[in-house]
Amino acid sequence: MIHDTGKGEFHLSTQNTSYIMKVLVSGHLSTLYYGRRIREKSDYIRLYRNFALAPGGSTNYDEKTAHFTLDSTRLEAASYGKGDYREPSLSLLFEDGSRVLDCTYESHRIYNGKEPLEGLPSSFPADGESDVQTLVITLSDNLVGIKAELSYSVFSERDIITRSIRLINVGDSPVITEKLMSFNLDFPRSNFDVITLDGKWIRERHVHRAPLREGMFSIDSKKGVSSANHNPFLCLAGERTGETEGEAYGFLLVYSGSHMASAEVSPHDLLRVQMGINPFDFSWRLEAGESFQAPESLLTWSNEGLNGMSRNFHDFINHHIIPLRWQGVPRPVLLNNWEATYFDFNEQKLLALAGEAAKLGIELFVLDDGWFGKRDDDTSSLGDWFEDKKKLPGGLERLGSKIRKLGLEFGLWVEPEMVNEKSRLYEEHPDWAIKLPNRPPSKGRHQLMLDLANDEVVEYLKTTLTDLFERSGVSYVKWDMNRNLSDAYSAALPPERQKELVHRYVLGLYAILDHLKKRFPDILFESCASGGNRFDAGMLYYMPQTWTSDNTDAIERLDIQYGTSFAYPLSTMGAHVSGEPSHQVLRNTPIETRFNTAAFGLLGYELDVTKINAFDKKVITKQIEFYKEHRNLFQFGRFHRIESPFDSNRTLWMVVSEDGSEAMVGDYQKLQKPNMGFEDIRPLGLKEDALYAVGGRTQYLNIKAFGDLINQISPVKMKADGVVHTMVSNHYMFEQKTDSFEAGGDELMYAGYRLPNQFIGTGYNEQIRLVGDFGSRLYHIKEITKEDKQNSIGSSES
Ligand code: DGJ
Repeated sequence: MIHDTGKGEFHLSTQNTSYIMKVLVSGHLSTLYYGRRIREKSDYIRLYRNFALAPGGSTNYDEKTAHFTLDSTRLEAASYGKGDYREPSLSLLFEDGSRVLDCTYESHRIYNGKEPLEGLPSSFPADGESDVQTLVITLSDNLVGIKAELSYSVFSERDIITRSIRLINVGDSPVITEKLMSFNLDFPRSNFDVITLDGKWIRERHVHRAPLREGMFSIDSKKGVSSANHNPFLCLAGERTGETEGEAYGFLLVYSGSHMASAEVSPHDLLRVQMGINPFDFSWRLEAGESFQAPESLLTWSNEGLNGMSRNFHDFINHHIIPLRWQGVPRPVLLNNWEATYFDFNEQKLLALAGEAAKLGIELFVLDDGWFGKRDDDTSSLGDWFEDKKKLPGGLERLGSKIRKLGLEFGLWVEPEMVNEKSRLYEEHPDWAIKLPNRPPSKGRHQLMLDLANDEVVEYLKTTLTDLFERSGVSYVKWDMNRNLSDAYSAALPPERQKELVHRYVLGLYAILDHLKKRFPDILFESCASGGNRFDAGMLYYMPQTWTSDNTDAIERLDIQYGTSFAYPLSTMGAHVSGEPSHQVLRNTPIETRFNTAAFGLLGYELDVTKINAFDKKVITKQIEFYKEHRNLFQFGRFHRIESPFDSNRTLWMVVSEDGSEAMVGDYQKLQKPNMGFEDIRPLGLKEDALYAVGGRTQYLNIKAFGDLINQISPVKMKADGVVHTMVSNHYMFEQKTDSFEAGGDELMYAGYRLPNQFIGTGYNEQIRLVGDFGSRLYHIKEITKEDKQNSIGSSES
């Protein structure tokens, strides 16, 4: 809802939030309030506050508005040069060398629905959704011929307000945009903790939290991709806000390139938050009459803790960002050959893998890197998107058809944005790579980036990929991107536009993706960038899922998936069970834990299934059956974090169906501690007054885990790791069952589910929970309806 008081005040309200702005006497657009919803009024003047007498050292805006200083005014768009000494959100350079900009209110319009942003990914109202409204406020500075359109779209039901800004040069001469943040939001206080998701390769989106203090806090990417270093996400949490209680503001940028987010506490304790394209190494020349659109940002607030903030983002991404075609559509269980074979495969090997995969219940076979050009390692062939006939004599067509005959779908890996110097493409078009004409380029993974700021390259990729996807008949594509930007220079741009390259690259990428999304609506695209180097809402607009991380170790994945869930829903996170030991950290983790972690996401397997033992095969078959049975819950349920791997030895999380009738809890332990105390689970999101059946997934323990201790219980003596031990371990499925019981939602959520004690070194009986190092369990909670009760009475009577 957008309430226009008619006095230059606007109250944007969602179900639980209010966002209020006011045009000041000076014409500046000031923020009055953002937070918990308040009632509508005829005016909001009391929410405005400024100094009655300007503080010493301040700059008075003008003679007409005595004592008014911009430095202490909460602004929706902030520029440099008229006394605001905080970071500007828009900075321009004019032809005469001046930089002063002063945008004031010109007009506004309100309309139902929301228009897409030109050339950029942006959220959209669901079909038939009528409660989305947009307010566009135009600010202008007539002295320099600039207009800025600030857009606010209100998604009432989701508690999300989207913001973006479009700059228009209405003057006669060119203007250089040096900074244009997607939003500027000033708070009247700064007592928040700032939470960000940071990391690096195989360690993405770890959660960091710290109190704000006077000065500037910022995160950014200068890598040309949103990057694993800092996700384009920022959260402001109350000092006492936890997962379930307290208030949290969340900000997310719908953009995949170099970005920046900042939180600045001013000397007067005002807090300024901004997010947008990184102004570093950026500028955009606007000729007279031209406009520039900044990416969209998503703003939310919740007083239900960090989980509340995440829920708002999850629901929003699931319903308003990912392609409509894939919303709520079950994703297949896949086998990817990367960690199974790397570059060393041929058609026979792939078919053997696929054959075994089909027997295990896998639904999609994905052929990863190495199928094209002469790519036997990572030094060559990117750009040459035709089959290596030595590995695939019958091409992708024959392989695909054989795979489909096995009952599997066929998917393919590509890395279209890249080129190796050792490739036909590079020989033909050396100037299509991003590099300087007179300086040898630095490489990442031996490769160069293609210049997507060049329209010719964009068109070439559209055609090449359309042809490849058509002839191979793939139903899934993994779109990889394995290096960060360096040697930024485009042979296609004039000198004065070189600082446009990084953003133009992203626009070129979006143009290709837009084309492919429309041309191949039924292909399921998964985006990837050395794992999670470009996990952002921009990519999700074209590709509904992302390869979360190259780290497939289940224990490392607890951190990564926990952190990722701050902003992104389970339906977007690719998660695979891989082999032993982990290729990333050399850790051995029980096969059941590898599944229990990967099940919270889009399940895949990434190991040589032709070489696994009989025990693992049986276990995997049961895992896949279980996942399929609960797929909807795992992929589209509401995710709650309960206990953080960053704070303790234990990780607890869960997923609940939207109506609260079914849930799955994941309980994971890093290391076994000696003589442990008791543990409970207090699930979230259940219905207080409902009755639930609680049980655990039956898991299997490989008796090799007991080593020589097996002789304590086995009637037959066996040598640890000897032939008999190995034979028994392969065939004996040591079942780990959990109690089944009934309990009310209130009892479970408030009193908790009392788990039996873990193994404490004094022996074993059936009541003891064997968890061990890197052990885990899944618990299933299902509502018992009146009909279920009646049916069970009926069946016991008959
Ligand atoms: C990086 C990806 O994240 C991996 O999964 C794999 O596809 C390799 N690239 C292939 O080169």
